[in-house]
Amino acid sequence: MRILGIETSCDETSAAVVEETGDAAKPWAIRSNVIASQVAIHREWGGVVPELASRQHIRDICGVVERALDEASTRWTDLGALAVTQGPGLVGSLLIGVAFAKAAAAAARLPLVAVHHLAGHIESLVLHNGEPPLPAVVLVVSGGHTSLYLVEAPGRYQLLSRTRDDAAGEAYDKVAKLLGLGYPGGPVIDRLAQSGNDRAVALPTTRLTHADRNAPELKGDLDFSFSGLKTAVARYVRAREKGVGGLFSKNEKRPPTPFSEADIADICASFQRIVVTALLDRLFDAARRFQVKSVGIAGGVSANSRLRAELAERGRRREMPTFVPSLQLSTDNAAMIAAAGLRKFRTGALAPVDLNADASLAL
Ligand code: KG4
Ligand code: ZN
Repeated sequence: MRILGIETSCDETSAAVVEETGDAAKPWAIRSNVIASQVAIHREWGGVVPELASRQHIRDICGVVERALDEASTRWTDLGALAVTQGPGLVGSLLIGVAFAKAAAAAARLPLVAVHHLAGHIESLVLHNGEPPLPAVVLVVSGGHTSLYLVEAPGRYQLLSRTRDDAAGEAYDKVAKLLGLGYPGGPVIDRLAQSGNDRAVALPTTRLTHADRNAPELKGDLDFSFSGLKTAVARYVRAREKGVGGLFSKNEKRPPTPFSEADIADICASFQRIVVTALLDRLFDAARRFQVKSVGIAGGVSANSRLRAELAERGRRREMPTFVPSLQLSTDNAAMIAAAGLRKFRTGALAPVDLNADASLAL
């Protein structure tokens, strides 16, 4: 069976056709995965502007879906179902995908499956690598989320912990902004960090030990926190700027910057070392605690080169199989939504006709 997936939760309009292979070990194959990125539009504003995002989704959705079907040599009548991201995300953006998918499903007389965006990220691992040895712990780390899930059986996701404040990708984006590196921050910090000294700037790491009052069912000691780290980078930058303030005359157009390229690389490398270590420490703590057979990392930040390299290294040392998606499947895309949709379709869970977008949908 083939399914058409649609993803519009943030600033990528994406549609994909994924089909079942009949092979239980590697259940799905991608026939097409079309992604129209809005990064160039939002870059000018230093981050995603929700109103601009929804307007662009409206412009792009029809063309993106047509191209996904075309590249997959698939007609509407070849499809067995549709899958769409219901949430979480920007509500205006989600609504475009949900409204389109409901209308298309009704017109083509196809069943519709509502998919949780993070279930999509988790299933990107299976889509790319095949079924991992279970139980597994999966870290979903993106611009909006940093969450650990225990997967004991295919399609069953149990939340173990999450960030108390900023997501890791959000910390990358904010630090890049304050260093004047543009949006999105992850890829540029990743690149600049490669030539930096990761011990040059002393930055704090946050280790939580107490339960979160807002989520008493979680123990809390596997939780993440990145806002303190971001503030520490901001304080360091401000202190250095004050130090050189006197060197610039009042009419100086360029803001005084005390940083050479090498300094920026050092800040990026030092920041990235703390983030990657915090993510991997918690992931492997959870792996030990739940005695899992494999670990995975998905979501936009899983594209990070240092995170990938250290995950593989730690996995080798502990003889623990590790999984990441391909670079294209790391950031938002509809193929992962189609995959999670196929998984859910096979459980018989179809979306009601009055399906609505849900900006803070829980998984
Ligand atoms: O999964 P995603 O595309 O969208 C959300 O669901 O949020 O993730 C986007 C996030 C952004 O914060 C971006 O800065 C980050 O992923 N990102 C990276 C890298 N590539 C993208 N972070 C670190 N290193 C990268 N190479
Ligand atoms: Zn995402």
